[in-house]
Amino acid sequence: MNNSLAKSYKGILSVALVIFCVSFSYSQKKSSVDSIQIKVESLLKKMTLEEKVGQMNQYTGFWEVTGPAPKEGNAKLKYEHLRKGMVGSLLNVEGTTNVRKLQEIVVKESRLGIPLLFGFDVIHGHKTLSPIPLGESASWDLDAIEKSARAAAVEASAVGINWTFAPMVDITRDARWGRVMEGAGEDPYLGSKIGIARVHGFQGDDLSASTSIIACAKHFAGYGFVEAGREYNTVDVGTSTLYNIILPPFKAVVDNNVRTVMNSFNVLNGIPSTGNKFLQRDILKNKWHFDGFVISDWASGAEMIQHGFAKDLKQAAQIAANAGSDMDMESYAYVNYLKQLVEEGKVDIKVVDDAVRRVLRVKFELGLFDNPYKYCDAKREKETIDHPNRAAVLDIAKKSIVLLKNESNILPLNKNQQSIAVIGSLANDKNSPLGNWRLGSVDSTAVSFLEGFSKYNANYKYAKGTNLAIGKTAFGSDIEINETDTSEFVEAINLAKQSQMVIMVLGEHSHQSGEARSRTKIGLPGVQQQLLEAVYKVNKNIVLVLMNGRPLAIPWAAEHIPAILETWELGTETGNAIASVLFGDYNPSGKLPMTFPRSVGQCPIYYNHYNTGRPSPKGEVFWSHYIDESVKPLYPFGYGLSYTKFEYSNLTIDSSNAKNIKVSATITNNGNRVGEEVAQLYIHQSVASVVRPVKELKGFEKFSLKPNESKTITFTLTDKELGFYDNEGNYVVEPGDFDVMIGTSSQEGLVGSFTKK
Ligand code: NOJ
Repeated sequence: MNNSLAKSYKGILSVALVIFCVSFSYSQKKSSVDSIQIKVESLLKKMTLEEKVGQMNQYTGFWEVTGPAPKEGNAKLKYEHLRKGMVGSLLNVEGTTNVRKLQEIVVKESRLGIPLLFGFDVIHGHKTLSPIPLGESASWDLDAIEKSARAAAVEASAVGINWTFAPMVDITRDARWGRVMEGAGEDPYLGSKIGIARVHGFQGDDLSASTSIIACAKHFAGYGFVEAGREYNTVDVGTSTLYNIILPPFKAVVDNNVRTVMNSFNVLNGIPSTGNKFLQRDILKNKWHFDGFVISDWASGAEMIQHGFAKDLKQAAQIAANAGSDMDMESYAYVNYLKQLVEEGKVDIKVVDDAVRRVLRVKFELGLFDNPYKYCDAKREKETIDHPNRAAVLDIAKKSIVLLKNESNILPLNKNQQSIAVIGSLANDKNSPLGNWRLGSVDSTAVSFLEGFSKYNANYKYAKGTNLAIGKTAFGSDIEINETDTSEFVEAINLAKQSQMVIMVLGEHSHQSGEARSRTKIGLPGVQQQLLEAVYKVNKNIVLVLMNGRPLAIPWAAEHIPAILETWELGTETGNAIASVLFGDYNPSGKLPMTFPRSVGQCPIYYNHYNTGRPSPKGEVFWSHYIDESVKPLYPFGYGLSYTKFEYSNLTIDSSNAKNIKVSATITNNGNRVGEEVAQLYIHQSVASVVRPVKELKGFEKFSLKPNESKTITFTLTDKELGFYDNEGNYVVEPGDFDVMIGTSSQEGLVGSFTKK
């Protein structure tokens, strides 16, 4: 950092304060003028228009930073832009050496030396990987989720990264969409709590600490509702869904100081998010008082041309800036046109100043002006990467596993059990269980299923049965799935015949979910269903271990296979986590954060739907149903078994204080093992001015009980839980009758009612 510059910031604080008070009117006013605002104003005053626009520009990095050896044609130009202060942030650069070299260019060679932000998709860990976010969410364990994000921040910050593009807080109801793996599932209440935990994990208590990185809530807004689950598709939702389902997790993390928000690729009700003033200015910045900054998604500004919302890149820049998209990721729209647009009067300088203030504020908060190289400590990098926090990652991996079925208590397995057949290529895979979105990790570094399993019981024989992935498609990193080759079935079937028990490890390859991985078939991919049925014919004593990035439709398995364990993609510690659950060292405690459908035709399917006018069978044709499938899910939201049994009793409701309604229940561990349960509270208002969902999660608590131990838990319902957003976006609380349920899932529990006065 340029020392004389730092001194001069301090020198003009008082002048800046006056200027600030007069000029800071475009965005929301903060209640008090803090020292960072003063520094921001001081710096802003020195900046040329070109430099201001520079802070709004983000490029992806592809520099060979040990020497200027550009891999792409315009790298030279980008270097020039760094030197001229025309870049505010880079993404996809990591490593302290690389980051330092680039930071040095702007700090030492640009006129004002404003440090860069280095953004990266640290989605579920950096080098050491936690479960995919959907899996982690199944833990319903906010503390463990926060620790997992903290572990990710510690690693990412050690390799030079100071900004993660996470958490994705998009609510997801459609298992066809590949990005369901990246979020917290279908419920806005759970999603909000998890979003807050993850933001806190990344950002820490003090942003200026060297292990804190800024978080980014994405994708604002509606991206989880792409039509038919097809990636990048249109989003057209009603106001009730927008205000009550899509926006609450964003508001929750904004209220909890998330420093950046990413807009989205989709159009929302006809307006692309990047050009959406209603979302970015009216709601996010004005109504919610968000004082961080908005980053576009990758080239989403330029994509407004394809959407038919801007005629060219110049107009796209104008629309995006005016709508409140503060930083442009990879569209080249601002860097090429914003200066000109201001000069032509098409974009007010106040718009630019507002955006730049926001970006600078975050840089000051991170302490980058005090030490632009705070994330560039090569010694710390080595120590951190050599000593990853595998304990946090293993802990969350175990907690993410959901026991879907356990007929006749076939699980847990006996450690001395003889003759076990393990079947399925995923069992021996060290790569796929890492999950998608793992740019900072090394391929094939997961503890495989077999590696974990063999530590408990070496009396197994393995046959892969089929190759799930057989190569890459023309798209390079995508995976081609074996849809035809059954030649390895015979060996697996013979092995199953000779064994007392069969464990089948089946599911998706990790590159079948994630961005741009929408699917129209959501059963077991390839020939795995065939393999499962063939093995079942010779040995019914099967434990099915699922690995997948989305809810799968597996009705046949749910009916026939005695035990099913959902393990998602658990990351680095996969094999150890699964083995500890299979052998009962850890009693499974996960609950589904997203409904599992019976068939793809039910999608989108979610527990908190509205009633129809014809909700239930009346023995006639004209009611809301399918003629070829049940309307019920295969496994509902909030569902998950344990090796012990929890009994719910004694529901009591005290509604005497309408502002503080208490609902309690007693939960007893009636089995013979210690176990954790997630008690869930759901409400339903019978009649309201906008119809209410049949159930809405409004509280949960995870706790551990010893055998025969009981616990009474009490939930408090205030206006915060009992109200809803009307179709104008106003939060309203209406008196009336409520049903309430405390239970073990969204479908099973003790039901009562009360009247709110
Ligand atoms: C596009 C994705 O939609 C977004 O989530 C991600 O952060 C950016 N690419 C940057 O990689």
